[in-house]
Parts: sequence; C-alpha cells; structure tokens
Amino acid sequence: MLVSAKDMLNKAKAGHYAVGQFNINNLEWTKAVLLTAQELNSPVILGVSEGAGKYMCGYKTVVAMANGMLEELKITVPVALHLDHGTYEGAYKCIEAGFSSIMFDGSHYAIEENIAKTTELVKVCAEKGLSLEAEVGSIGGEEDGVIGAGEVADPKECKAIAELGVTMLAAGIGNIHGKYPADWAGLSFETLDAIQKLTGDMPLVLHGGTGIPEDMIKKAISLGVAKINVNTECQLSFAAATREYIEAGKDKSGKGFDPRKLLAPGFEAIKATVKEKMELFGSVGKA
Ligand code: 13P
Repeated sequence: MLVSAKDMLNKAKAGHYAVGQFNINNLEWTKAVLLTAQELNSPVILGVSEGAGKYMCGYKTVVAMANGMLEELKITVPVALHLDHGTYEGAYKCIEAGFSSIMFDGSHYAIEENIAKTTELVKVCAEKGLSLEAEVGSIGGEEDGVIGAGEVADPKECKAIAELGVTMLAAGIGNIHGKYPADWAGLSFETLDAIQKLTGDMPLVLHGGTGIPEDMIKKAISLGVAKINVNTECQLSFAAATREYIEAGKDKSGKGFDPRKLLAPGFEAIKATVKEKMELFGSVGKA
C-alpha cells in the first residue's frame, strides 16, 4: 500500500539521513526504483511531475501501475507516490486519483497567495492522511519547459509556510534542476542553516539532486535536509546505457530488438544510479 511520506521523513530528519525522491517516467523506471528500494531495504518516494503524469496516460494510470507493482513485486518497504511541483489544480487531481503525497509549488505566487493556497491544501491533505510539500523560493533550471532562476529563499517566509502544518518544505538554496553550469556558485549553506534554525524539526527538501557534489549533499543532510529529489541523473544513465547497446549493434543481433532486451541495460543503469544515491543519502536499511 502506498503511504504518506510523513513518517519516513520525520524518521530521516531525526536520524540525519535523507530519503530519495526518484522521478518516474514509465513502467521500467518505476520497476527499477521499487526493486532497488526493496533490495536495499530503503524507504522511497516516487516523484511524478505533471508532464510525466500526462505522458504516462494520466494520474489514475500512474496510481494503478504503482499499486499493481507494490503487490506483484511484493514490495514491503515504505513507498510514497508524490506529485512533484504540482499546480493548485494538479494537486486536487492527484488527491482524487489516489496519490499518497502532494507537492504544491506556490513559489511563483506572492507569499500571501502561496500561504492561502497552502493553508487550504494542508487541511485537505490532513483529512485524507496525505503528506504535503510546500515550496518557498523557486528552484532554478528547466523542468517541464519552465525555466527558473535558482533563487535563495527568505528564511522568514520559510518559517511562515512551515508553521501552516505542511509535512516537508522545499526551499531554494541556489539549487537548480538539470545539469549544473560550470560556473555554479554551489549551495548556500548559510541560507539552509538559517532556514533550519527557524523551522526546527521540519524535514527540508533539496530539489535538483543531479550533479550536486557528494560533500555538499552530506553537508545539506547535516543541516536538516531529509528528502532529496533526483530526476535528470536517472535519465542520463538510462540514455547512456541505451546508446551503448544500440551503438554496439546489439539490437540487430538475434532478438536484440525485443524491447525487453533493448531496454534492459537502461533499466539496470537506473537501478545502479538509484542504489548509488540511496547509499550516499544514508537511507539503506532504514525501511
Ligand atoms: P534533477 O533533475 O536536477 O535531478 O532535479 C529533480 C527534482 O528536483 C525534481 O523535483
């Protein structure tokens, strides 16, 4: 059964490790993430952006696929199905479809409107036992065609949103989605420290997990980050492994064109990336 992310994140915050959110794109992705979590006895969060939800034939299809896999693959570790960067309308659609966790990204609204909409969703999610992630300070980079600038959140605004009763809080600390540019200034630990001081036990979320150096990841966890989102890195490893298979001409040999063979190296590559991240984040054995 899909679970809220609340318990796994509170445990992670108290235990000084982070749970990975791995964004899914299709059946292979979902299966790879779930099997790796089970093998490593790690809690896990499946992230679904609105664009990926649409690609996978809608939220109901995603919920049915995730629930089916939990049963058929005998997954016993805690798994949350989480809307990533949801709009206000998208949040309601996912609540209705059976997601167990919601992110409402109101970071592009004025803080008053972000507070008003988040307050409403806190109530709705609490009634249904779902976890809710809010965001302050937009995360830069490109996601679903939207390009943000990599803001640094105002710690006082973070406190105001945290106090609404959300489960977890994403705050911009100079992180961006996708690959980091060569001249990236790095994460702002001063900001993270100030946010943690004002938000106490609130599990903090680090978006843009792809390409952040290991020492920065560890330091972020030591300063209260309990959830780290990874998307692009799985896409890059899937693409590289698939390219290698095709370039080696394996699709032209025997039954190598069978999707069950053609997609296998990419599937294994996602598993390897997820394993590496779970080990780095410290969630192995924490299910
Ligand atoms: P990356 O694609 O940079 O790993 O970011 C993922 C993310 O933050 C999803 O919300």
